[in-house]
Amino acid sequence: MSYQLTIEPLGAVIDVEEGQTILDAALRQGLYIPHACGHGLCGTCKVQVCGGEVDHGAANPFALMDFERDEGKTLACCATLQDDVTIEADMDDEPDARIIPVRDFAATVTRIVDLTPTIKALHLALDKPIDFQAGQYVQLEIPGLGQSRAFSIANAPADVQRSGEVELNVRIVAGGAGTTYLHEKLKVGDRLRLSGPYGRFFVRQSAHLPMVFMAGGSGLSSPRSMVLDLLGQGCTEPITLVYGQRTRAELYYHDEFVALAAQHPNFTYVPVLSNEPDAAEGSDWTGARGFVHDAAKAHFGGSFAGHKAYLCGPPPMVEACIGTLMQGRLFEDGIHTEKFISAADANAQRSPLFKRV
Ligand SMILES: Cc1cc2nc3c(=O)[nH]c(=O)nc-3n(C[C@H](O)[C@H](O)[C@H](O)COP(=O)(O)OP(=O)(O)OC[C@H]3O[C@@H](n4cnc5c(N)ncnc54)[C@H](O)[C@@H]3O)c2cc1C
Ligand code: FES
Repeated sequence: MSYQLTIEPLGAVIDVEEGQTILDAALRQGLYIPHACGHGLCGTCKVQVCGGEVDHGAANPFALMDFERDEGKTLACCATLQDDVTIEADMDDEPDARIIPVRDFAATVTRIVDLTPTIKALHLALDKPIDFQAGQYVQLEIPGLGQSRAFSIANAPADVQRSGEVELNVRIVAGGAGTTYLHEKLKVGDRLRLSGPYGRFFVRQSAHLPMVFMAGGSGLSSPRSMVLDLLGQGCTEPITLVYGQRTRAELYYHDEFVALAAQHPNFTYVPVLSNEPDAAEGSDWTGARGFVHDAAKAHFGGSFAGHKAYLCGPPPMVEACIGTLMQGRLFEDGIHTEKFISAADANAQRSPLFKRV
């Protein structure tokens, strides 16, 4: 059984299967509704129900507050239809966005590589080719959990096309059900299911502006794919990657970026460590120390006007970078973010510095 969903202001009418979420139906039919976590935590996919009945599903009470439910709002990633429904959604027009409908994939684990003590690279051979924009992510079904988790694709689209494999870089989260499974139980040869591509974190190439990528923790995945894609395409705009980790042991793909910076005069690589022991304690690190936003501020002399910035990583890092960029005269239209939101961040995900919801 299916219901009809009308999405305003587009006036698009789509079929939604019983039990299928509004977001899933829209993305599979090539209609983009803004979203991030995909499972009721972040509130990015909030839409207004203008007619008909929905079931709010597993929406987190912080992501969809009681008064918002009373006002007729719902989370598209959790809501299912009880009836034919009309919603109003914020369907922004992005000239650089490609319309790629979400599809399901089966995959086989071909390699698991320890990138750092806390991050593993999972190499997954897909049963059919995936089309995506560098920076986008997939939802990976965690076996036995009955839930998916979001992971950004860490290799460039050209590499995925050539090898038929996506690479996901997964940081283990203390107490996290999905990442613990992937780190401790997953093995080469296992079969997995995933869907994608999701998200609107991609390069606004039509802007033709210098780019600064700011990444922390496992948030390197998307910027790595984006930077490799840009350099692979022969992009000549200045590209700076400011990449922060706690220690040298956690700084994965460091040698790759050093080599890329030597090879491409328009690419600058600024690694920064926040908790590396000092020389007296045996560290040979001579690069920047501190947080990503501090290193970016020092590198750019505090001025970011005339750039496009792409921030990716844990919410506190992204927030700190937004503050630094705004102090440096780069504002909301010039800043694009992907926050690696987890259940622990459910009630504090949207930047209070951004006007747009
Ligand atoms: C768009 C996007 C892209 C991402 N890309 C990547 C990536 O490339 N690499 C990567 O490593 N990560 C990425 N992430 C993050 C990744 O999805 C999370 O690390 C993952 O969801 C954590 O899953 P988990 O099942 O291990 O933890 P969960 O079980 O979801 O728990 C996470 C944390 O929250 C705590 N917790 C659980 N429930 C609650 C609750 N109700 N209240 C408070 N705390 C709670 C847990 O103890 C744990 O510390 C991405 C996230 C998003 C949204
Ligand atoms: S995408 Fe729906 S709440 Fe995060």
